[in-house]
Amino acid sequence: MKEEILEKIILETVDIPSLPTVAMKVLQLMNNDYSSINELEKIISRDQSFSTRLLRIANSPYYGRGRSIDTISTAIILIGFNTMKNLVVAASLKDIHRKFGLFEQRLWEHSLGVSIAASMIAMETKLVQSEEALVAGLIHDVGKTVLNNSLPEQYSAVIEKIYEEGLPFIEVEDEMLGFNHCNVGGLIARKWKLPKNLEVVIEYHHAETFPAFEDSNFETFCEIIRIADAVCLNMGIGLRRPVDVSKIELERLGMPEEKFNELQEKIKKAYTEQKAKLLE
Ligand SMILES: [Fe+2]
Ligand SMILES: [Fe+2]
Repeated sequence: MKEEILEKIILETVDIPSLPTVAMKVLQLMNNDYSSINELEKIISRDQSFSTRLLRIANSPYYGRGRSIDTISTAIILIGFNTMKNLVVAASLKDIHRKFGLFEQRLWEHSLGVSIAASMIAMETKLVQSEEALVAGLIHDVGKTVLNNSLPEQYSAVIEKIYEEGLPFIEVEDEMLGFNHCNVGGLIARKWKLPKNLEVVIEYHHAETFPAFEDSNFETFCEIIRIADAVCLNMGIGLRRPVDVSKIELERLGMPEEKFNELQEKIKKAYTEQKAKLLE
């Protein structure tokens, strides 16, 4: 019951955007068993900046693929429909921002950092697919983007307090708005009919305990994103705030502390290399 009330309040206050048109059309086509690769390619290719972004993400080394993908049709054939759906969502994320100032830039860098970190943790632990971790990282804080668009003045005040007092986003959001970016993100994910693993990550990446998920991998996804998030916050990639990563959390992923420290250095290096390429 409490959840329903919360959803109602959010829907009354926050303007939940629709998924950008290209992405929506592509996802609709992909959900239709009879659609052809040609049709898909036609829609995607019509949008130049979208296609470029899509290929750039598909070619990211963290995506775990050796050869280069230079056309949309190759991407669709090599990657497969499911992953392609993820990539389409990821590539359209930047279009959701209404303005692109300093905070938006930092948030985008944070998401990029978390996506690289999450895919590297996934590769290291082999617990989930690295390409899915990559997309989950890109999209995990979509609730922040939407709050920032929808309630610009209130959200500026939230951000100011976070910077001044060094508090976590959800804590200040809950206090000043009555709900947080995970609540809002969950609604967005359902409205956009995102794949379930993305919905779960968006809604539960800060949760201490989880509801009973239908797939035990979902918890692992959330844990990986939480650690990737902490790594980026600690290193000041995009946003900055000291966060503890406990031994227990690392143990759950089967990662010894030394390995984790090594990995952090690799993540920082990878982020610096990738940023220039992906941030256009
Ligand atoms: Fe978050
Ligand atoms: Fe985050």
